[in-house]
Amino acid sequence: MLPMKTKIAALLADIQQFQAQSKEQVEEFRLKYLSKKGLIHALFDDFKQVPPENRKEMGMLLNELKNKAQEIFDRQSDAFAGDQHHVSQIDTSLPAVEVSGGRHPISIVRRNLNSIFERLGFIIAEGPEIEDDFHNFTALNFPEEHPARDMQDTFFIGKSPDVALRTHTSSVQVRVMEQGKLPIRIIAPGRVFRNEAISARAHCIFHQIEGLYIDKEVSFADLKQTLYFFAREFFGPETRIRFRPSYFPFTEISAEMDVSCNICGGKGCNICKYSGWVEILGCGMVDPNVLEACGIDSKEYSGYAFGMGIERITMMKYQINDLRLFFENDLRFLKQFDQLV
Ligand code: DAH
Repeated sequence: MLPMKTKIAALLADIQQFQAQSKEQVEEFRLKYLSKKGLIHALFDDFKQVPPENRKEMGMLLNELKNKAQEIFDRQSDAFAGDQHHVSQIDTSLPAVEVSGGRHPISIVRRNLNSIFERLGFIIAEGPEIEDDFHNFTALNFPEEHPARDMQDTFFIGKSPDVALRTHTSSVQVRVMEQGKLPIRIIAPGRVFRNEAISARAHCIFHQIEGLYIDKEVSFADLKQTLYFFAREFFGPETRIRFRPSYFPFTEISAEMDVSCNICGGKGCNICKYSGWVEILGCGMVDPNVLEACGIDSKEYSGYAFGMGIERITMMKYQINDLRLFFENDLRFLKQFDQLV
């Protein structure tokens, strides 16, 4: 005969695994373990044969077993009592209840952009929408008399010329560089604000995504390759890109990038104004003045940056011809994006 301790341990293991699927099974459990003819009761009979020196220990183990069995029985019979909605009656394998609505096209594209750049090792950075002059302009090498600082473009807050709604996500570049943790490889998607008349092509609120990469020996070739990868992932594998020289205060050299028109494939249509190309972003090598203003040694480090409008590339991708649609909450428009994630 097995020693009593082993029997107790085996029963304990059995009852702890027990999971009733029905009221009947709870009753079977009671009969098997807790009734007068049950296994635990039988052990109490065996107990009479236990030598006196072991009785204390066996007695305790036996009581523990009995209490545990009672506890499991009580819990499971509760679960099947009446028609109450009980935890164990919830079928977690059922499909989720469908919720109506979908994501906004700008959110869809934003997530898509994040995932493309995250695959290249970029992490997401954020900055405030209300900025000071230093982060939005001065640290980015904007000369004192630069027209972008003008009342016509910038929404100032209150009477101070120092506090304004950010006019671009480039301000996040400064925020990140200031933290001084190198190398840097971030993207910063977010809302920006400009004092512009609202039309099919412009709005006073829109979204941009900024990219910044700072390390030793970063070159323009790295920038090109990153943006080429992005363009093919976002617009499709046939997409071609081209760079045109440009000017931004915070980059030197500066460029604008065009992609081959994804509507006509570059043959020429009214979207690309029959040129076959559409301009989508500004970019360049971070100006040493910017690195220095943010406390980075420009002799040791270099970097590239780029920034683009999210509405614009969303319009291209989904052939939307009026930017105002993004802000009007017209369900007939929004519902067309329900199936996208
Ligand atoms: N901040 C610029 C704008 O709003 C876009 C831009 C151009 C961002 C060049 C950059 C860049 O990071 O390198 O028009």
